[in-house]
Amino acid sequence: MKLLVTGGAGYIGSVVAAMLLAEGHEVIVLDDESTGHADAVPAGATYVRGTIQDRARDVLADGADAVLHFAAKSLVAESVARPALYWRHNLGGTLALLEAMRATKTARIVFSSTAAVYGEPERVPITESAPARPTNPYGATKLATDTALAEHARMHQTGAVSLRYFNVAGAYAGPDGRWFGERHDPETHLIPNILSVALGSAGPDACVQIFGDDYPTADGTCVRDYIHVTDLARAHLLALDACDPGLHRIYNLGSGSGFSNLEVLQTCREVTGREIPSRIAPRRPGDPAVLIASSDRISAERGWRPESGLRAIVADAWQFAQGLAR
Ligand code: UFG
Repeated sequence: MKLLVTGGAGYIGSVVAAMLLAEGHEVIVLDDESTGHADAVPAGATYVRGTIQDRARDVLADGADAVLHFAAKSLVAESVARPALYWRHNLGGTLALLEAMRATKTARIVFSSTAAVYGEPERVPITESAPARPTNPYGATKLATDTALAEHARMHQTGAVSLRYFNVAGAYAGPDGRWFGERHDPETHLIPNILSVALGSAGPDACVQIFGDDYPTADGTCVRDYIHVTDLARAHLLALDACDPGLHRIYNLGSGSGFSNLEVLQTCREVTGREIPSRIAPRRPGDPAVLIASSDRISAERGWRPESGLRAIVADAWQFAQGLAR
């Protein structure tokens, strides 16, 4: 297949692009490098640097079987400080993409939605029918984008799938041994933050801050559902087959198990063999206590199952982090 990957210079987009290439697909990456890195684009992809607004239509005019749409702003705290930026990039970018798809008769789109659309859940595991009540602009822009996709699918007979990711982590080694992984700036995610302290790249006196130990959980720290980025990438390939004309489907993607922040820290200590100093810091505003996905729908309908657990996630993220530091 010939596939347009927006945001393919970012973390998840670059991993999926690399895995698509390894499977023999043709990949065009479109990225404006607002948060991505040109050197993350896998060799073998055609790289177009630019915004969706400026370039998507021309790229799609050359013909593409489908779009995998990762390009977005994804920092919750930044979205609270600068909501208009998030609406413009996330919803505005997608509307421009849908317009380009309509003009070029591109039939299928798989979109990176998020657990953040559910906000503070009433119960876990969270199914796709749980109420969508985002608690920050980031989640609100992703939910609005899901709605726009559903409407576009109905009006224009496109096939659309929104994949609602829980906590994505880990890294991927391509067939040539090159690693693709997470390097946000600033980095806010737990596992890469722990690993940069383990490496010493956060400074000699740096220590991991665990945000809050007074949540209503077994050890008082927040619980999250981690999914390996390669399991996530496989779900995208299955989602392409789920793009039926006129329909918008939603699938949650997680492992169904939760790990507390202290359990993640302990796993990182075991995998790296390093002590990793840490301290308890105040709660981070807006963090739900527990987020665990039910991925029963994609398992039942598409046969997807996660293959890698937390230890493999951390081990691969550690390989990638060590490579970055060299
Ligand atoms: N945490 C720390 N120390 C850190 C970083 C994170 O204790 O240095 C904690 C957080 O407070 C939270 C947990 O680790 O309790 C996980 O935090 P992440 O930032 O790694 O991930 P989130 O659960 O906040 O974010 C994920 C996705 C977002 C999405 C959000 C929905 O990465 O894109 O879930 O709630 F918006």
